[in-house]
Amino acid sequence: MRALIAGNWKMNTLRRDAEALALALVDLCRNEGDPGADLLVCPPAIMLQAVGAITQGTPVALGAQDCHTAESGAHTGDISAAMLADSGCSHVIVGHSERRANHGENNAMVKNKAAAAHGKGLTSIICVGETLDQRDGGETLAVITDQIAGSLPQQVTAANSVIAYEPVWAIGTGRTPTIQQIAEVHDHIRSLLTKHTADSAAIRLLYGGSVNPGNAEEILAIENVNGGLVGGASLKAEDFWAICGSSAQ
Ligand code: PGA
Repeated sequence: MRALIAGNWKMNTLRRDAEALALALVDLCRNEGDPGADLLVCPPAIMLQAVGAITQGTPVALGAQDCHTAESGAHTGDISAAMLADSGCSHVIVGHSERRANHGENNAMVKNKAAAAHGKGLTSIICVGETLDQRDGGETLAVITDQIAGSLPQQVTAANSVIAYEPVWAIGTGRTPTIQQIAEVHDHIRSLLTKHTADSAAIRLLYGGSVNPGNAEEILAIENVNGGLVGGASLKAEDFWAICGSSAQ
């Protein structure tokens, strides 16, 4: 299946940087042609309009990093899925480990966020992943089972959902699991998905955590890895582009 390479810009870029990065990616698409993967950028919410103005009508899709569960109302500082759709987003990341850790998001909240996204026609990128303690304690597959069971809303389909496996200890650390460890978790997620949808074989499973141009080819070649969720390396157009060109297709 065609890979999806998603760039999670996190809380990085001022407007000038965001626009330059988006422009560089759009230029690469125009000058180099199809890299063989679908491209998605997820800038900070306040940059969506500026980045969207550049990516609109190009192969670079636009996504957000979070959404609220409610459609509107008294939620100071929050952003609804409807607002994201209205701003040109096609995707939204939900349940990233940084939100789970820093904002106390639990599986039920992640599930409701994904459902809110689906309600507005957005594709949710639902994140799961174990901590280092859980990995060392041999709990990885149990943790993933629990997160998948709790974080996926009803009516998950290949069109409305992508799952991202991101070991917490691999995010921003330069450390990655072994190829076997990634394959084991992705195979496990694929089998768990059969309980959620008839579409399970077609749902894209992304790996995230210290993906870079040097390791992307090997990671993206794993059978049940259908793309990447890229943080740090997505902030440099050339690195992100190189990762996009590394998928086996
Ligand atoms: P990283 O982040 O590529 O910087 O490790 C990945 C992520 O958190 O999505």
